[in-house]
Amino acid sequence: MFSDLADSTALASRIDPEELSEVIAAYHRCVAEVIVRFGGFLAKYLGDGVLAYFGFPVAHEDDAERAVRAGLQITRVVAGLASGGTPLSARVGVATGLVVVGEIGSGEANAVVGETPNLAARLQAEAPPGGVVIAPTTRRLTGDWFHYRDLGARHLKGIAEPISLTQVLDERIEESRFAASRGALLTPFVGREQEIALLLDRWRVASEGEGQVVVLSGEAGIGKSRIAEILRERVADAGTRIRYQCSPYYTDTALHPVATQLTAAARIDPGEPVESKLDKLERVILPAAIGPEVALPLLAELLAIPPGDRYPTLTMGPELRKVRTLQVLADQLFALGQKRPVMVLVEDAHWIDPTTREWLDAIIEPIGAQGVMLLVTRRPEFQNSWGHHPNVTSLNLNRLAQRQSAALIAYAAGRSLPAAITEAVAARADGVPLFIEELTKSVLESGLLREIDGELVVDGPLPPLAIPTTLQGSLLARLDRLSATREVAQIGSAIGREFDYKLLTAVAGLPEGQLQAALSQLEVAGLVFRRGRTPEAIYAFKHALVQDAAHDSLLKGRRQQLHARIAEAIERQHPEVATSQPQLLAQHYAEAGFAERSATAWLQAGRLAASRSASSEAAMQFARGIDVLQGVEPGRERDRLELDLQVGRGSACTVAHGFSAVETERAWVRAIALLRDHPEDLRNFWARRGLSAVYSSRADMTKYAAIAGETCADGRRSTRGSASSPAPTRSSARACISATLG
Ligand SMILES: Nc1ncnc2c1ncn2[C@@H]1O[C@H](COP(=O)(O)OP(=O)(O)OP(=O)(O)O)[C@@H](O)[C@H]1O
Ligand SMILES: [Mg+2]
Repeated sequence: MFSDLADSTALASRIDPEELSEVIAAYHRCVAEVIVRFGGFLAKYLGDGVLAYFGFPVAHEDDAERAVRAGLQITRVVAGLASGGTPLSARVGVATGLVVVGEIGSGEANAVVGETPNLAARLQAEAPPGGVVIAPTTRRLTGDWFHYRDLGARHLKGIAEPISLTQVLDERIEESRFAASRGALLTPFVGREQEIALLLDRWRVASEGEGQVVVLSGEAGIGKSRIAEILRERVADAGTRIRYQCSPYYTDTALHPVATQLTAAARIDPGEPVESKLDKLERVILPAAIGPEVALPLLAELLAIPPGDRYPTLTMGPELRKVRTLQVLADQLFALGQKRPVMVLVEDAHWIDPTTREWLDAIIEPIGAQGVMLLVTRRPEFQNSWGHHPNVTSLNLNRLAQRQSAALIAYAAGRSLPAAITEAVAARADGVPLFIEELTKSVLESGLLREIDGELVVDGPLPPLAIPTTLQGSLLARLDRLSATREVAQIGSAIGREFDYKLLTAVAGLPEGQLQAALSQLEVAGLVFRRGRTPEAIYAFKHALVQDAAHDSLLKGRRQQLHARIAEAIERQHPEVATSQPQLLAQHYAEAGFAERSATAWLQAGRLAASRSASSEAAMQFARGIDVLQGVEPGRERDRLELDLQVGRGSACTVAHGFSAVETERAWVRAIALLRDHPEDLRNFWARRGLSAVYSSRADMTKYAAIAGETCADGRRSTRGSASSPAPTRSSARACISATLG
């Protein structure tokens, strides 16, 4: 986010320098306060400009939204800072993207490398005084949280393509976080039959006057809000519905969810006169134990409406005021329940403020005798002690099963996708509906698929699926909530989806105590699972995407260094792993940038697989070895390795894909080319024999005759054998000759 004072040059000419410096200091103070309040990081002042990061040093799932909220707030605060009759206004620009933050050459700490800050500064310049302008990347992430105005595409200095700009006008009232962030295009609902049946059953019991509380738990994106919405739809005709939405920005504003709901229910508009606000409030209040003479001033206070002289002044102290307010709220709820059953949804209780929390604690018990159902959704970090009440049910949402994931992928894509894509998305998303939706969308947008005759097909081999930008924040936030453990998670992620304690210790180089503390934090946070006890323990990332996010958050240099250390630790400490799973070493060496070592390990892996008759795997492994060779300096050593890999690939492909396959042909042709300088090598015979089989199976007689002739010549010349290429037996040479003659 970049914020600047509008017209500061003009201002400088109007007021004297001393006053100007006071104005700027006041402006800086306000901006700094707002940035901190929304969880941002003040990076630097540039004259009267201010650059702030959201997402550094700690990521939040909603950093784009935070930056925009902060921007709007800055424009308001600055507008209130009039200087000696001269109005002030700020301009703000917000852009989103990946950057590298660190110390750069001149020793400037927390400097950013990347285009995003420049873009934010350019956007700021496009904003009208008092306005906030955002980039398309930011707009994608801010959903329906705000009112926007489209400013069209504009050319910005230093940026090649025109960029479409959006001005943010103001915040929308957040009645439902779900509706604002995901509600626009809902995919059809899948599964969860039992959960819905249970919720409907509790609703039935509550409707009969035996109030119920259900705590619906599960991690982000698992589908809590969606189920709650379904329940709300199902009860719409039979009951009154209330939604209390907790918000990450108001975790310490007393009764924020209740106040927001009441304002909306009474249809009170923030801009209208006090008198009409009070009239509206009076209209929604019900007769209850605490009479209106006390209830109304308390509720007016809750909604920050000055009561004027309409009601007698309350003389209670603050503590009693709170107790009475909570009572009034309970009274009102239960009075409502007397008329029709009420379904109260408390959304996102992990962001609840302490007073709303206190209110819930107090009403759990009495709800049992009321026609009220209280449904609380929460992520695992919210703890409660309501479990012992007989009218409380805990319901945990698990991941979707494979079949349901596949169905959701097809719905999210709006058509059926190639099986390989469905499998890859399902494997990466681990049954979390949000991950499934976002990954599917990003695969469709990635250009990986092509349409042929109305069907989508994949072009070439499937590359690893990138993390969708919409999920980056939320995944990193999961890791960053535990900043001390992020490093351990990153090291684990470099080892793999599973990592064992011993290897981790060898690579991390951290004191035992620190490592164990970090691991148990990761476990408690639900990011990793553990099997067995230390030092034999094995850990696994709960989600493939969390592992990816941790791995992606490593800078390239550090990542390479870690992979090199892992490969060396495996070779040194787990020689059995190095021998039995050379593919593991090969991957770490490739990531470490040690291409030659990686190719050698792929060669071993391929040979091992071939010796176990796993020809398809072997063919793939030889091919990966050939791929990494691109990073090796040309020379004899490189050619020797490639020759081994091509010969291995040729044999494996013959079995896995057949004599006539293109891959088989390609391997033999290249092997023969590499053998040109080694006429004595026995593999001349094998490679030519392989290639002649390719042509004979394709009935390409011209090429066949040519190559078969060479093969026989080789067969006759060869006498010696070696481990990797046994001497052709007399009978195989004879078979070849007779085939040639026949
Ligand atoms: N059973 C389901 N069938 C189809 N779509 C689903 C299902 N469950 C969830 N979704 C979709 O997955 C996305 C995430 O679900 P939802 O917002 O309900 O998760 P949540 O658990 O409330 O997450 P958070 O903790 O962030 O609030 C939504 O777009 C939702 O529509
Ligand atoms: Mg939700």
